[in-house]
Amino acid sequence: MSTIKSILHEARVFPPLPEFVEQANLASMEAYQALCTEAKKDYPGFWSKLAQKHILWHKPFTSVLNDSDPPFYKWFEDGELNISYNCLDRHLTSQPDKLAIIFEADDGKVSRCTYRELYQRVCQFANGLKALNIKKGDRIIIYLPMRIEAVVAMQACARIGAIHSVVFAGFSAKSLHERIVDAGAVTVITADEQTRGGKNYPLKATVDEALSMNGTDSVKSVIVYKHTGIDTPWQAGRDIGWNELTEDKQTDCEPEWINAEHPLFTLYTSGSTGKPKGVQHSSAGYLLGVMASMQWIFDYKPTDIFWCTADVGWITGHSYVTYGPLAMGATQVIFEGVPTYPDAGRFWKIIQDHKVTTFYTAPTAIRSLIKLGADLPGQYNLSSLRLLGSVGEPINPEAWMWYYSVVGQSRCPIVDTWWQTETGCHMIAPVPGAVPLKPGSCTFPLPGISAAVIDEAGHEVEQEKGGFLVIKQPFPSQIRTLWRDPERFKKTYFPQDIGGGHFYLAGDSAHRDNDGYFWIMGRIDDVLNVSGHRLGTMEIESALVANPLVAEAAVVGKPHEIKGEIIVAFIVLKERCPHGEQASEIADSLREWVGHEIGPIAKPEEIRFGDNLPKTRSGKIMRRLLRTLARGEEITQDTSTLENPAILEQLKQSIH
Ligand code: PRX
Repeated sequence: MSTIKSILHEARVFPPLPEFVEQANLASMEAYQALCTEAKKDYPGFWSKLAQKHILWHKPFTSVLNDSDPPFYKWFEDGELNISYNCLDRHLTSQPDKLAIIFEADDGKVSRCTYRELYQRVCQFANGLKALNIKKGDRIIIYLPMRIEAVVAMQACARIGAIHSVVFAGFSAKSLHERIVDAGAVTVITADEQTRGGKNYPLKATVDEALSMNGTDSVKSVIVYKHTGIDTPWQAGRDIGWNELTEDKQTDCEPEWINAEHPLFTLYTSGSTGKPKGVQHSSAGYLLGVMASMQWIFDYKPTDIFWCTADVGWITGHSYVTYGPLAMGATQVIFEGVPTYPDAGRFWKIIQDHKVTTFYTAPTAIRSLIKLGADLPGQYNLSSLRLLGSVGEPINPEAWMWYYSVVGQSRCPIVDTWWQTETGCHMIAPVPGAVPLKPGSCTFPLPGISAAVIDEAGHEVEQEKGGFLVIKQPFPSQIRTLWRDPERFKKTYFPQDIGGGHFYLAGDSAHRDNDGYFWIMGRIDDVLNVSGHRLGTMEIESALVANPLVAEAAVVGKPHEIKGEIIVAFIVLKERCPHGEQASEIADSLREWVGHEIGPIAKPEEIRFGDNLPKTRSGKIMRRLLRTLARGEEITQDTSTLENPAILEQLKQSIH
C-alpha cells in the first residue's frame, strides 16, 4: 500500500533532454502522436506498413488482420517468412563481421561471436536437429544455462520451423516434466551443469529425473552441451553430445519457410490455477512487435551495445535477447552469472568493460544493488550509457530516482516497460525522445496499442480511478492461444464478465492520472510477483498439499522492499499444530519440498502453522484476512462471517 500511495503522489516530471532528443528515432511528442493518429485512422494499414518495413518476407502477405473468429486473430496470414533468416541471414552481406554477441561467463571469461559465426553455429545445429529427424512443428524443450548455446538452440529451432519451449534452468524436475508432457516434446536440449555465482548446478541430472517420470515417451533424444565437463549418466541411443551432433555438419542450412501464423514458441507462465499455461506465440506478428519496440522504446541505433539482463527462460529473454536485438543487427552482451558475484559491482563493471549503451534490468535487481552498495556505480565509468530500462514489476519512485541519478548520471532516460509473457513485446512504455517521464509510471501505450482502464461493463473509468487494464484492439504480437487449450485461453483473456469478452484482459489493475499517464497497481488475480517472476498461489498451494504432512495450505503475497513481494504460506498439518523447534524444522523441510516440486524461486519465505485456516461458514478460505495477517497489520475488516475467529490469534503468533 505504501508504494501505491507514494506513486499516487509522485509529482516529479523529467522531460526528454535535448542531447537525447537530437539523436532520437522518435524525437517529439508530435512525432509519437502522429504515429498514434496514423494507427487510429487506418489500423491495418499502419501495421501493414510496419510489417513491410521491418520483416523480410519470403512470400509477401495480402491479408493484414483476420478478425473473423475472435479472439483467435490472425495477422499477415498468407505471408511466409523465416524468423532465423530475419535475425541472421539478413546481416550476412551488410555486416557479417559485426559482433552479434559479447558473452561474459560467470567466471569473467569473455568470448565474442560475429553475425557470420553465429549464423554458422545456428546452421550447424539446425542441421544436427534435422539429422535427428526433427521437423517443422515438432516441440523442443530447451533447458540450458544463459550462454550463447541457448540463443543458438532457439534460433536453430526457428530455422527449421520447430516450436521451442524454453524452461528456465532454475525450475525443478517436476516442473520440467509437466512442461515436457504438456508440450509433447520430441527432444530436450540441455547441458551437464550450469554455473551461477561461482557454484555449479546440475541440469542433465534434472532432465534424467524428469524423463524417468510417466508420460514422456514422446522424447526421443536429449542433446547435451558439455559445459563444466562433469561425468553424467548417459543413456545410449537417446543422449547425444552437442559437439557430436554438430561437428560434421554443414555451416549453411536452408531455412524452412513457414507461414506467418506458424507458432514460433510456447512459453509456460503462471496463472490463477495450479497448472502453468503454455502461452503460444506466432512468428511474424511476434517478430514485428519486438522489432518495432526495439526501434521506438529502446531507440535502437546500429552503434548501440545492448544489454538485457534477463534469462532466456523468461519472455524478456526471448524478446530482447534472442529475437529483438538480432533482428535489428545489434551487438549485445549476454551474461551468464548473477549481479552480486564476485561482488555487487558486477553489473557496473560489465557496463564499463563492454561500453554498454542500453541497459535493461528488473526493479528487484536495482533495489538489491542499492542495498548492497548505493555508491558502487560511482567507482566505474558508466559514461557509455545512454538509455536505461526497467521491466517485470512496478518500480518504486525511490529506486527509479537512484537508477536515474546514480546509474544514469541524470543523462539517460529510463523506459519503464509494462508488458507480459502474453503480449510478446512492450505495450505501455515511454518513447524516450518524446515522452516526459514520471518516476513509477510506464507512461503511454506504444503507437497502435489501444490500452485502456475499464470497469466491468467495459467503460473507461474516470481519471485517477482504478480499473482493469485491457488492450481494446487485437495487436500483432499478442498470444494466439494457450497450447492445446483454446477454451482456457478464451476464458482467461477475454472473459465475458469484463467488457463483454471483447478486450484482451491483462490481469493487472491500473489507473490513469490527470495527464493520462498509466500507473500499474498490481495483479487482480492470485498471481504473485516475486523478484519479477510470476508465480501462481495455487501452484504453490498444490505443491504444499502434495506433501504427506500437509492437510491444507493457503499462500498469499506480502510486500517486500527488495523482492517486491514474498511468499507467505499458512499451513494446517495432518498431525497437530507444531511448536518451537519442531515447527521450524517442518517449515524448513516444506521449503525444500516446494523447491523440489517447483523450483527454488517458489520457496515460501514465511511459513505459519495453525489448527485451521480462517474460513467462512460455507468453508471458503478468507484470503484477505490472511493477507492482512501476513503484512503484520491489525485486522480491521469485517470478521462476522468468520466461522473460527480464534484461529487468527494463533496464526498471528506462529512465524517460521
Ligand atoms: O503484473 C505485471 C508485471 O508483470 C506481469 C507480467 O509478468 P510476466 O508475464 O512474467 O512478464 C514479465 C516481463 C514482461 C504483468 O502482468 N509487470 C511487468 N512489467 C511491469 C509490471 N508491472 C509494473 N510495471 C512494469 N513495468
